[in-house]
Amino acid sequence: MNNFQFYSPTEFVFGKDTEAQAGALVKKYGGTKVLLHYGGQSAIRSGLLNRVKQSLSEQRIPFTELGGVKPNPRDTLVYEGIGICRRENIDFLLAVGGGSVIDSAKAIAMGMPYEGDFWDFYCGRRPAAALPVGTVLTIAAAGSEGSGDSVITKEDGGLKRGAGSDLIRPRFSVLNPALTCTLPPYQTACGATDIMAHVFERYFTNTTEVELTDRLCEAVLLTMIRETPRVIAAPDNYQARANIMWAGTVAHTNIVGVGREQDWNSHGIEHELSALYDCAHGAGLAVIMPAWMEFVYRHDPMRFAQAAVRVWGCQMDFAHPEVTALEGIRRFRAFLHSIGMPVNFAELGAREEDIPRLVEKHGVGTGRTGGFVALSAQDITEIYHIAANASV
Ligand code: NZQ
Ligand code: ZN
Repeated sequence: MNNFQFYSPTEFVFGKDTEAQAGALVKKYGGTKVLLHYGGQSAIRSGLLNRVKQSLSEQRIPFTELGGVKPNPRDTLVYEGIGICRRENIDFLLAVGGGSVIDSAKAIAMGMPYEGDFWDFYCGRRPAAALPVGTVLTIAAAGSEGSGDSVITKEDGGLKRGAGSDLIRPRFSVLNPALTCTLPPYQTACGATDIMAHVFERYFTNTTEVELTDRLCEAVLLTMIRETPRVIAAPDNYQARANIMWAGTVAHTNIVGVGREQDWNSHGIEHELSALYDCAHGAGLAVIMPAWMEFVYRHDPMRFAQAAVRVWGCQMDFAHPEVTALEGIRRFRAFLHSIGMPVNFAELGAREEDIPRLVEKHGVGTGRTGGFVALSAQDITEIYHIAANASV
């Protein structure tokens, strides 16, 4: 196990009706004037937004609204949010929605006190300050409610890039699983895929002797394999929703990834798909992650075989661990298919002829990227081709 620091300062308030505490939590963390940030329609339609506004009013906290965050959130709305915050002396960002809304709020939080262009933070610069962010989560997926990351798409050029800083870890996150019952099955499945991908990105490591985090990863994956079909079959199943929601947070605070080298190539490769086609991040991962696994498993067949046995219930073939490894990958893809996820480019709405463009935008150039297996542009090209033609 490697040395590590684990910093996860977010207060998680979990359970039924917890959104009623949003106003009190903003007050607790020093907010006196709030930008209430949300997405398209879902939080309005469900009445959630009104309940959150009421909880702010009960605490006599004034707020300004900025809705309209799109999935794969754009820089244009971030600039608008920064302008509002400056004009109105906002001192707290309250995000009501999914990863896209939260990431947009985090970008505004970093951009408001910064004299330059907030996009600098998505090109590697670290912020020196940020407004505090709180969240009311409506979809179990990205894990942004507990992470120090934000992913934004620059409209001009369609660049999707991430920024990271402990300054944007939310002060609090309200997690009411009941809010996720209105999710369409497809979005539920996209979220489940992203959660599993966040674990796998950490699971496939070159670091040895990480038994505890291996077992924590496996626990999250087994939970997702059990609970996801239950909520697809019965969207109102509160207990299954609750387990998935907490799994989504645990998967990405990094508690399952400490002390080990991580990979993250599947995310980098996927981000080009959601940037180019505006598809859901989880759907893109469903196509990419098994393809990445098929490309890299020979690097450490025993690690893949371990996942196959412990997570997918395969029989270990000690003489041929690569056979066990491949069977685990096959079962992963079949599981994704069974919950309604695409497994190849055609099902995702992507085109094989775009692969050179995807690789170029990925920007690996002549270098290599990733922690488990460092990939070249040629490797990434091959992974896209495997993904393009995959089947169950
Ligand atoms: O806009 P509305 O109407 O709210 O609809 C949303 C949106 O269309 C809908 N939705 C959300 N909650 C709902 C609901 N519909 C009905 N009922 C509800 N309760 O779901 C759609 C997707 O929402 P979005 O926020 O985009 O989903 P998600 O949480 O999956 O976020 C995806 C974004 O997060 C980034 C992704 O790249 C993508 O841009 N990521 C962020 C990370 C982070 N900050 O740590 C890490 C991840 O790996 C990921 O890259
Ligand atoms: Zn993700």
